[in-house]
Amino acid sequence: MDTNRIQNLKNQAISSILESKSENELEQIRIEYLGRNGEITKLLSLLPSLKPEKRKERGILLNETKKTIEEAIKNQSSIINHQSSTIDSGWFDITMPGIKPIKGHLHLVTQAIKEITFLFEKIGFNRVAYPEVEWDWYAFEGLNMPKNHPARDEWETFFVQDLFHPKYGAAVLTPHTSSGQLREMERLGQPPIRMLNIAKCYRRQIDASHIPMFYQFEGLVIDQEINITHLKGTLDYFVKQYFGPKKETRIRPFHFQFTEPSFEVDVTCVVCGGKGCKVCKQGWMELGGAGMVHPHVLKNGGIDPLKYTGFAFGWGVERTMMMKDKIDDIRLLFGSDLRFLQQF
Ligand code: FA5
Repeated sequence: MDTNRIQNLKNQAISSILESKSENELEQIRIEYLGRNGEITKLLSLLPSLKPEKRKERGILLNETKKTIEEAIKNQSSIINHQSSTIDSGWFDITMPGIKPIKGHLHLVTQAIKEITFLFEKIGFNRVAYPEVEWDWYAFEGLNMPKNHPARDEWETFFVQDLFHPKYGAAVLTPHTSSGQLREMERLGQPPIRMLNIAKCYRRQIDASHIPMFYQFEGLVIDQEINITHLKGTLDYFVKQYFGPKKETRIRPFHFQFTEPSFEVDVTCVVCGGKGCKVCKQGWMELGGAGMVHPHVLKNGGIDPLKYTGFAFGWGVERTMMMKDKIDDIRLLFGSDLRFLQQF
């Protein structure tokens, strides 16, 4: 029994133990080296036949080898058990689906803008974008609201300091998308015009149904023989597509300086379906303004009012989508509270 053989047996045993992947394999290795007829056991049984000095030396070496193999088996066994328990709990199971990262979505208002754009583009409207900081002429004066006219008060405007155009007047943050009407007439020069202007608007207002920065969508159609039935048909189309086929629209006489006649547009209440409830006025909810483009405005846009007529409407994007999703405070939309936004 030479020491090299003992050393070799130890090395072989350790490498087999390290490669083993199951308790079964480990048991086979234990039997092969330490079992009743195992390699190490056999050598241990030969010790009594050795001379005393060799017996002691080989005895120490064999016992150390036995101990090392036993410890290696114990260590490997705990590694195998740990791996199998983590595999059982799914950590390293490559066949399991991964953990899904949190996925965001477009903001509610962006979703609404996309849907509104899609519905109007389907019937031939052309989406445009005009300046967010606008001259007084386009926002007011050209829309038939001369300087100091009381109608301007309703727009509670933000003025831009120290910015003034000698011809077009003061600079304002667009208080409504109607400023796009004159811009579009100037851009195209001649009808037919089918404009959809969706843009940010600014007013000094804040409460449950008003915010200082909000979106409006403005439709403008100008051509020969355009009349109120075209306006009503367009609004009906939009409301049925956006809110559902059972919703009706109603136009009610109103006053805007830039349309004649002017209307406010009501939609069947989404809460009670038109029966009448505490949220609505006898079954109807107001969503925006509309009317036939005033001849002065056509003229200011360079279009002959004797030859052409047109209709326009301007609605709040947030108010419209709030009605659909039954949201009762407009400020929630821009509060950046994920608990609210993630519900949609
Ligand atoms: C106008 O702004 C007109 N330019 C609409 C118009 C266009 C009439 C074309 C005729 C022809 P009004 O001020 O009512 O109208 O605003 C229209 C809509 O914008 C309101 O019904 C509401 O939905 C929305 N809105 C107005 N102010 C705010 C605000 N501070 N916050 C949120 N939405 C608002």
